[in-house]
Amino acid sequence: DDLIDVDISTLRPGQQLVVTWRGWPVFIQRRTPEMLASLRMVDITQRLRDPDSKILQQPRDAVNWHRSVVPEIGVLIGICTHLGCVPSYATPSPNDRSGKYSCPCHGSQFDVAGRVFKDAPAPYNLPVPPVTMLSATHVRIG
Ligand code: FES
Repeated sequence: DDLIDVDISTLRPGQQLVVTWRGWPVFIQRRTPEMLASLRMVDITQRLRDPDSKILQQPRDAVNWHRSVVPEIGVLIGICTHLGCVPSYATPSPNDRSGKYSCPCHGSQFDVAGRVFKDAPAPYNLPVPPVTMLSATHVRIG
C-alpha cells in the first residue's frame, strides 16, 4: 500500500524509529529543542550545500527551516543521495546535542533535517516523503 500510518507515541525525544515505505527505509525523529536550535546555527548552516532546500527534495509543506510539517517531528527517506546506502543516525549526545546522519559507504554527512554537508559526495539533501500529522501520536506517510 502507498499509505502507512505510524504510531509514534513511544518515540522518545532525540530518538528515531525506522519504518518501510515503498520499500525504502523512512526515518521518523522526535526532535529535542537542541536539535531544532542546531538547524538554525550559522556555524552549521554555512557548511551545508543546500541549507534552504532550494533543490526540491521535499513536498511544499516541508519547504521551511525544519524540512517537516511540524518542527518537532522530522521524517526523511533514508537513502543516501550519492549511491543509495542507508545513512546511520547518531543520536544527540552531551558532546553533540544536534544529532546527525553519516553514510557508511563514502562518508556523506547530513544534519538532523537531512541537509547534506558541502564536503560530502552526496549531491542532494535526503528526500522528505509526503507526511500528514493525523494526531499527536500518529503520522501518515504517503
Ligand atoms: Fe552515501 Fe556514497 S552512498 S556517501
